[in-house]
Amino acid sequence: MFTRLDHVGIACADLEQSILFYRNTLGLEVFHQERNEEQGVVEAMLRLNGTDDGQSSYIQLLAPTRLDSPVGKFLRSHGPGLHHLALGCPDVDAVSAAVGDKRMNVLFRPPRPASMGSRATFLHPHECGGVLIEIVTAAG
Ligand code: CO
Repeated sequence: MFTRLDHVGIACADLEQSILFYRNTLGLEVFHQERNEEQGVVEAMLRLNGTDDGQSSYIQLLAPTRLDSPVGKFLRSHGPGLHHLALGCPDVDAVSAAVGDKRMNVLFRPPRPASMGSRATFLHPHECGGVLIEIVTAAG
């Protein structure tokens, strides 16, 4: 069903500060940056490695563009840190339907546009042991 760890999402208050931290301490460079107005977020993808399925794994830095966005609310209640785990698969529609049949709370049906032209949905942390899980299919 899943072929790789696509990314780990990390919530931060200041994207530029966070990018500098990862560059200066861990030597990770920004591979891609974008703004998603619908989700109220600015993000940077730091590419770690290529994977067997021809895609890649990333660290995704997320900062809110408004306080009432999902990441804004997360920061207010949890502070900065690990936000979600994204599992990559070839067909997010098929996987989210299969997981939905197991009575999981699939947040976006159908999946929505996400980083770098990918499509993604999320499983609510309530049914996933406290972890927000993203299911993502990378752009061809
Ligand atoms: Co993500």
